Amino acid sequence: MNVAIDGPAGAGKSTVARKVAEQLGYVYIDTGAMYRAVTLAANRAGITSDDTEALSALVADLHIRLMPGEQGQTVLLNGEDVTEGIRTRAVTLQVSQIASHEPVRIRLVELQRELAASKGIVMDGRDIGSHVLPDAELKVFLTASVGIRALRRFKELKDDSITLEQLEQEIAERDASDEKRSISPLIRAQDAIVVDSSELTIDQVVALIVDLSRTKMAEAK
Ligand code: CDP
Ligand code: CDP
Repeated sequence: MNVAIDGPAGAGKSTVARKVAEQLGYVYIDTGAMYRAVTLAANRAGITSDDTEALSALVADLHIRLMPGEQGQTVLLNGEDVTEGIRTRAVTLQVSQIASHEPVRIRLVELQRELAASKGIVMDGRDIGSHVLPDAELKVFLTASVGIRALRRFKELKDDSITLEQLEQEIAERDASDEKRSISPLIRAQDAIVVDSSELTIDQVVALIVDLSRTKMAEAK
């Protein structure tokens, strides 16, 4: 089966999805990394987020590959390892604008559906349950309060270039932009199970989702 995990920034989607995939023996696919890779490519090409035509040409000619490995997922952009490069603040600040463009979404959704066609996938993002994989056997909408999500991200920082308040503001702005875009916005699919991770540890969330997956598998037999 396929498992879709959606939710706002910092809810724990990628951390949890990777571990759930490990425990189920599934492949983890981080769709946010794909939007980040397009954003990095646009940056390098000097394409601004309002230039739909240039973005359209860019994605038509872009090769993004996700390779699962022991240390997490490696992201290749036209053969180059950009796993680290897509996590910079510059990319984070622009990705939501780039992701709101239709040609970008059409191309990446196509790729995501190809990757999930063989099943046995745990895919995380914003529109997986609602749009990319509407038939996913299990859909989880993972959330947490914005304060907790900002604090989690703050603890990951290696320098003091940004305050907790700034980070919370940026996360809230990105969520609002993801929720408001007209094409496949961040939304809870009607049949998604909501998990609020505010008061839960990573292991508790993982155990919950693995349990839900096994229940679904047993039901399908
Ligand atoms: O890890 P973090 O929560 O910061 O974000 P991400 O999962 O890496 O996604 C980065 C951005 O990509 C999101 O804020 C969305 O704008 C966009 N995205 C999207 O539009 N659709 C998806 N399925 C996944 C990500
Ligand atoms: O992918 P997403 O943006 O939803 O979140 P993430 O990057 O997986 O998680 C953000 C941070 O929160 C990571 O440092 C996780 O270790 C941490 N986290 C946590 O402390 N407790 C949880 N229940 C889930 C995540």
